Formats: sequence, structure tokens, C-alpha cells
Amino acid sequence: METAQNKIVKAALLGAGTVGSGVYQLVQERQEDFSHICGTQIQITKILVRDASKEREGIPSPLLTDNWNEIIEDDSISIIIEVMGGIEPAKSYLLEAMKAGKQIVTANKDLIAEHGHELLDSAEKYGWDFKFEAAVAGCVPIIQVLKQSMSSENITEVMGIVNGTTNFILTKMTQEGMEFAQALALATELGYAEADPTADIQGLDAGRKMAIMASIAFNSRVTFDDVITEGITQISAKDIRYAKELGCVIKLLGVARNTENGIEVSVRPMLIPETHALATANDSFNAVFLTGDAMFYGRGAGELPTASAIAGDVFDVARNIVFECTGRIGCTCYKQLPLKAADEMESRFFLRMHVSDCAGTLASIASVFGNNNVSIAQVIQKNKEGELAELVVVTSKVKEGNFNDAMMIIEGMSVVQKVSKVIRVYGD
Ligand code: NAP
Ligand code: HSE
Repeated sequence: METAQNKIVKAALLGAGTVGSGVYQLVQERQEDFSHICGTQIQITKILVRDASKEREGIPSPLLTDNWNEIIEDDSISIIIEVMGGIEPAKSYLLEAMKAGKQIVTANKDLIAEHGHELLDSAEKYGWDFKFEAAVAGCVPIIQVLKQSMSSENITEVMGIVNGTTNFILTKMTQEGMEFAQALALATELGYAEADPTADIQGLDAGRKMAIMASIAFNSRVTFDDVITEGITQISAKDIRYAKELGCVIKLLGVARNTENGIEVSVRPMLIPETHALATANDSFNAVFLTGDAMFYGRGAGELPTASAIAGDVFDVARNIVFECTGRIGCTCYKQLPLKAADEMESRFFLRMHVSDCAGTLASIASVFGNNNVSIAQVIQKNKEGELAELVVVTSKVKEGNFNDAMMIIEGMSVVQKVSKVIRVYGD
């Protein structure tokens, strides 16, 4: 009689780097449990790498290959676990693999945020599983929540801290008064930041994750190009001190909204009240907040949290293979909602500038804002530096277009020596 213990589903790993080696280790360690959980054993029988001659701790060398054909032509392999990253050759390999009858699990946010549509269409055409839980927020199972557990909810806003490196840097700047460069150096030393941290600190990594979540939450395709991104490189310890004075912390926030005038998705540093639940997500943790109803929190990066999300997907796929029900949960983007024009988006703004310390300066700046329909909510003036004073203005919620029009004039005023910082403020 066939039992759970003697059924075997075979898988191939594409990549044996940080994430790939974690996946191999986890699948080996939990083999015994998995036969009970999924009704089958899972064996990783081949691993694709660039350099197959390199020794890799914990991975038997005979499994390694640098030849994709050995995997695609092996009909005993049912699942491809893609953890090599990048757009090509990953995209071509996955399309070929589906054509050859293989199910897909991937952690590749760059690929999904740009080409998810084509890949998911292909999976649907063949009736295969295509899963990507690990692409967003590490071990936080947010894709499953959006696609299944909360699919009956009308989710109109998804807010998230979805980049561990930048959250670690901002936490150090907030709690220990570090400047950006010092905090980035520490993140690199501790292994949080990648060798090239550009995608993290410029907000691109978080932008890709927000595109993926917005697509699923609003059932309408959002690609990375649709996301407005701004990084944290210009945030200073001084901005963070002013934020504290205003009862806020600064976080790199992803915000996706489904409004009457279209979808808006952005990733930007923002002031957020220190009483908001997201303000409590510190260090390299990620958190996602859905329409004020639910918050999900956990480790968003690294070998084992990511491997755990991938392993969860692999078990699900293996179960679906055993029960012959792959392709149950495919692409959920059945609407084509418009994107909101950037000028129509609304926000509160924190503005820090150096101005002439003389009578009438504040009144002239206030009058430019007033003429452009920008209402001022708060003003702080201090730190006199010679003939100059540092002025911090926080606006009420205004249209971005109106704020930008006002700023064009303010930047050219003779009493304004320098606009040092503009940061958005979360809330009404
Ligand atoms: P990594 O450490 O750079 O590992 C990449 C692996 O893929 C290496 O083993 C490399 O082989 C192999 N590879 C790359 N290009 C290849 C090619 N053209 N042909 C064959 N093998 C190739 O990357 P990682 O940090 O594990 O990330 C992998 C994926 O997971 C990425 O999509 C990333 O965005 C995603 N992800 C990472 C994290 C994280 O915390 N690191 C979290 C979530 C998602 P060699 O070893 O021979 O060079
Ligand atoms: N570089 C990413 C982060 C890793 O810092 O969150 C996972 O996507």
C-alpha cells in the first residue's frame, strides 16, 4: 500500500546562496515531519548554481550543476524553487519549466513586480501552481492572507514597513542618534545590508514588494514602474529629532490605496505618530497593516525567515500535487483599475528650511501657502544661526500639486536661504 512515507515529490533549487542554502537545510531537517504534513516526502535532487565546483557547507556536491538542461530535461522533477534572483535567465527558466510541466515556487520580487502578469498567465494556462510568498516580507505570510484568508474583505489600504535593512538603519538613527552613514555601516557589518545596498536604501526593494501586495489586495495589476519611490539617504538625525518633537518617528513606509480616483502606490520616508502600531516595528522587522483592521509582523529578511516562507509554499504545492489540485489559486488580478495622477495624491508635509530672521518672513511664506490652498498646521522656529533661523512647517493634508506649486515660489524667495528637507507626514 502507498503511504505518506513512501510517496516522494522531487524538486530542484535554482540558486544556493543565502536563501537557497537555507531552503536546502530546512527541507532536509524537517523531512520526517513533512511526510505527515503534506502526505509526501520532498527531495531536492538538483541544485543549479553558476559555479558548480565551489564547496558549499551543508550541501552535497553531487547535487550541484551549472547546466540548466539537466533540470529541465529531468521529468522526475515536479517543483522548481527559484532563488537565484534577477530577471534573466530566471524568467526564461520559469516559463520553460512551466511548459515542461513543473510547478513553481519563487522568492524573486524583482521578477514578480515586473513580469508577474506573464508568469501567472502561463501558470494559469497549464493549470500549475505559481507561488511567491517569500517575495514579500520574509516569514510574514502576507500573500496567503491577501489571496485567501482576507479575500472576502474590501481592502482599500495596505501600509507596510517591508524593508528590513532600512528599518534597521532608521531604528539606529532614532534610538541611538546615529547619522545615516554610520547606521548603514553598522547594518553592513552585521550582515543586514547587502554588498550593494542601493535597492534597499533607495526604496526600490520596498517598491517592488508594494507593487506585488497592491496587485493582490486591489485585484488589479500594479507593476514596479507604477510605484513612486523615494529612499532614506537624505534623512538626517536632525529630521528624526524634529519628528520626535512632533510626537512622530520616521519610517520608510509603503502606502497603497484604492481610491475613487484610482490606485496610488508609493514608498517614501514618512513621519508617523509614535502611537501608531507600525511605529513599534523596529530593527530589521517588517510589518504590514491592512485598512486599519489587521497587522502582520515578523522578520522580513535573511536566510531562515525567507527559507521558511519558501518551504511553506513548497509543502502546499507538494500537497496539491498529491491531491491533483494544482492551479487552485492563480492570478487574482481580474480588474483593470486606473492609476491616480501624482498631482492628485494628498498628503501632509514636513518642511525644514533656513530663512532670514527678520520681520515679515513667516508672513510672506504663509501667504504663498495660503494662495496655493495649502493650510499650515504647525510651525517650529529655533536654532538661530547668525542672521538665519531654522523654520519647520507642517501642513494640513493638501494636494501634492498645490504643495509643489507653493514650493516652486518659496524656493525662489529672497528670505529663503535653503529648503533642507521635505518629508511626508502620515495621517489626516
Ligand atoms: P544570493 O546569495 O546572491 O544567491 C544567488 C544564487 O543563485 C547563487 O547560488 C548563485 O550561484 C545562483 N545564481 C545566480 N545567477 C545564476 C545563473 N545565471 N545561473 C545559475 N545560478 C545562478 O541571493 P539570495 O540573497 O539568496 O537571494 C535569492 C533570491 O531571493 C532573490 O530573488 C532575492 O531577491 C530573494 N530574497 C532574498 C532575501 C534575503 O534576505 N537574502 C529575502 C527575500 C527574498 P553561485 O553561488 O554559483 O554564484
Ligand atoms: N534586502 C531586503 C531587506 C531583503 O532588507 O528587507 C529581503 O527582501
